[in-house]
Amino acid sequence: MASVVVVVGSFNVDHVWTCDALPRPGETRAGAYASGPGGKGFNQATASARAGAATTFICALGDDPGGALARGLAAGDGIDLRAQHAAAPTGTAGIYVDRDGRNSIVIGAGANGELSAAFVSAQGAAIAAAAVVLAQLESPVDSVLEALRIARAARATTLLNPAPANVSAPRELLAAADVLTPNETEFAALLARHCDDDIDADAVVRSDDAQLHRLCRALLPRGTVVVTLGAAGAFVSHREDQLRGDALAFYRCPATRVEVVDTTGAGDAFNGALAASLARGAATPFAAHVAFACRYAGEATRLPGAASAMPRLPADA
Ligand code: RIB
Repeated sequence: MASVVVVVGSFNVDHVWTCDALPRPGETRAGAYASGPGGKGFNQATASARAGAATTFICALGDDPGGALARGLAAGDGIDLRAQHAAAPTGTAGIYVDRDGRNSIVIGAGANGELSAAFVSAQGAAIAAAAVVLAQLESPVDSVLEALRIARAARATTLLNPAPANVSAPRELLAAADVLTPNETEFAALLARHCDDDIDADAVVRSDDAQLHRLCRALLPRGTVVVTLGAAGAFVSHREDQLRGDALAFYRCPATRVEVVDTTGAGDAFNGALAASLARGAATPFAAHVAFACRYAGEATRLPGAASAMPRLPADA
């Protein structure tokens, strides 16, 4: 079967400490330890697969237990894994989660940093056969750009999740995205880099919708921007002549209220679910895809962990 969603991105072994409060500089805290699969790319691929889409995941893995973990888990979720063999060890992340489910993350890119544009290009047939291609910024920018270029040439819908915020996507990469999905922090960082306008990340959720729409249009004039707002849901901004089946050029989508255990990977849940929903229902209004992704992301915060917390939903959920 041809892949419906192709995700290009990172796999990490997440080392997670859960404690009352996130440690301050110089502070030692007691907490509970667990490890599990993560990486924004793998989390999104897992969400896509568990939300019902045939999913291919293109990544780079070390020849080590972390790489074996990725291969085993991908097989278990029916994900078509295309892994470049890297000399570096498989990627890792150190994560602290506090009692409110908030986190701080440090990543060791490892193998993820070796994902080459040539390897991505060699997966061109799978990328060109996809309905939706989704990427993030924990892999080299030229490799991500190669994937989106192949996808665009084949008329697949391209989704770019510009995460994490400290990696700055160049204009050329933004322009390759049909749909850009920053969170508030990433949105503020991209505006500061690419636009004369800027905004404080904490002010995004309280901003006037017309003002947010104007900022989104400045950031991605030719595409759709979905700013994810955590517990406040998401803000959508379309180009005026390309509403993707919606009645409005800009609007908010509320989040569902849930008992939050761990927000790690919630953004990844949103992106994977959005990709899966778009891939199976091109004729459905975009707002319905965003509503599905918001619900799915909320569900993903009910459980601890990243990839392993992605809910398994029927395709028509
Ligand atoms: O988005 C959450 C992910 O960020 C974690 O799984 C961690 O691996 C980092 O990539």
